Amino acid sequence: MPTILDGKALAASIRRRIQEEAAKLPRRPGVAVILVGDDPASQLYVTNKIKDCGECGFFSRLIHYPVSVSEEELLGAISKLNDDAAIDGILVQLPLPASFNERRIIESISPAKDVDAFHPLNVGRMVQGDSVLWPCTPRGIGRLLDAYHICVDGKTCVVIGRSEIVGKPMGLLLLQRHGTVIYCHSHTQDLAAMTRLADILIVAAGRPGLITADMVKDGAVVIDVAMNRDPVTGKFTGDVCFDEVKDICSHITPVPGGVGPMTRAMLLENALTLARLHMGLLAFDKTSAALLEEYH
Ligand code: GUN
Repeated sequence: MPTILDGKALAASIRRRIQEEAAKLPRRPGVAVILVGDDPASQLYVTNKIKDCGECGFFSRLIHYPVSVSEEELLGAISKLNDDAAIDGILVQLPLPASFNERRIIESISPAKDVDAFHPLNVGRMVQGDSVLWPCTPRGIGRLLDAYHICVDGKTCVVIGRSEIVGKPMGLLLLQRHGTVIYCHSHTQDLAAMTRLADILIVAAGRPGLITADMVKDGAVVIDVAMNRDPVTGKFTGDVCFDEVKDICSHITPVPGGVGPMTRAMLLENALTLARLHMGLLAFDKTSAALLEEYH
């Protein structure tokens, strides 16, 4: 049996630590979450985020707009939150309904309150390798690798998916840790030939059953980011055929209970980082090795 990377347990211990750290601050960290429309999956994610904030002693605000809200109104709400001293982190749940200019909305969030690290300034810092903020999913996967002493240095890392939220920043994080990174996506010609090279395989395609045992190298570390809801059973499954791949790999994440809880915990950690910045306890330009070690 491989080692199961238990994101649920690790996330719970991280939340406890965050709660303790937050209690030491001069005021409660504050997070605002904006949801537009009634997508059930987005509603569930947002509810969980608000619940996590409460559990860690954070102040939180959920702002829920109908799909008919205008872009100007949304921008106005973000502008107010940018100026609100009680709010350290602003999150706009993605995807937004198709009528919205997602980039314009994300760019209107102050980079200093960009708890997702999606603003171009924070993306730029990330590309340059000196950001204190990372998007939550790659950061959570990084923490999971740390917790199980999985070293990236010199390893061949294959990332399937090139989204702004997961795939692209995931590759950058692995590169920063000195991995040799291969990005695969829907135009990749021979996916199996690529995945078989992987010492560390990160799968974020959203295609159930995509990764079968014959596509995985012996002893690989397999990280399944996907959360696909089975239309018949309603249960969540990943992109990896867990039951067959588990006999080949050395480590694997379960779905659910692997990456998902880590993503949630990293939102809190990013918010705590921003709260410390706003309270003058941390500087944006303080990019020493010690700081990076503490926050990655
Ligand atoms: N939609 C799916 N994942 C995320 C995330 O990490 N942040 C935001 N804002 N939206 C998402």
